[in-house]
Amino acid sequence: MELLEVMRKRRSVRKFKDLEISNSIINDILESAKLAPETDTCNYYFGVIKDTKVKNEIAGAALWAEWVAKAPVIFVCCCDISWDIGDQKEDDYGVIGNKLRYSEDIVNLLREHKNRKACKTLMQSTPVYIAAQHMILTAVSHNLRGCLVDFMDIEKINKILGLPEHITCQLLVPIGYADEIPSPKSNESRNDMFFYDKWK
Ligand SMILES: Cc1cc2nc3c(=O)[nH]c(=O)nc-3n(C[C@H](O)[C@H](O)[C@H](O)COP(=O)(O)O)c2cc1C
Repeated sequence: MELLEVMRKRRSVRKFKDLEISNSIINDILESAKLAPETDTCNYYFGVIKDTKVKNEIAGAALWAEWVAKAPVIFVCCCDISWDIGDQKEDDYGVIGNKLRYSEDIVNLLREHKNRKACKTLMQSTPVYIAAQHMILTAVSHNLRGCLVDFMDIEKINKILGLPEHITCQLLVPIGYADEIPSPKSNESRNDMFFYDKWK
């Protein structure tokens, strides 16, 4: 399937048929995650969760998401949060870059705040979404569907999975064969989202 065709087919699906996903498809989905860009400060890890009890526990830790447990596989996207912006020198690339991006006071707050784990989780939260989207698109190319889920109690899920302190869950990607057919996105719906050279 051509990539744009896969993207046209993708919609979030939250109802799944009671059908397993083959190991070869699971491996393709994992390979696509591996191909995603990683940052210097953040390595990714991916859990493949098929056990019903674990899936139920994970679903119970996500917001309004009992449906997550019905997916044959929940991929759990995690990252290494060893790198701490609070430990870096003022002239560190990450400190300078994040100050440029978010402002000095926000970065200082994140450097000094005593809940280090939450700050590190927040600082490293974005990159692994790219891998998650690779996984969703690979799933769609195999006629599977899924949804990104990040409204959840991260610490609870870390505990359920027995993750070490330096690894944290960032989002869930439940995948399965769709048992609902969302309408395709209209090509006309958001033509206002583009601008060229300068804002309108
Ligand atoms: C970053 C991100 C986080 C999301 N988190 C959740 C979530 O926690 N629970 C959920 O049901 N859907 C979640 N979604 C799915 C969105 O609700 C969905 O993408 C949106 O309604 C648009 O529909 P579509 O994916 O079919 O285009 C998330 C989507 C994104 C991009």
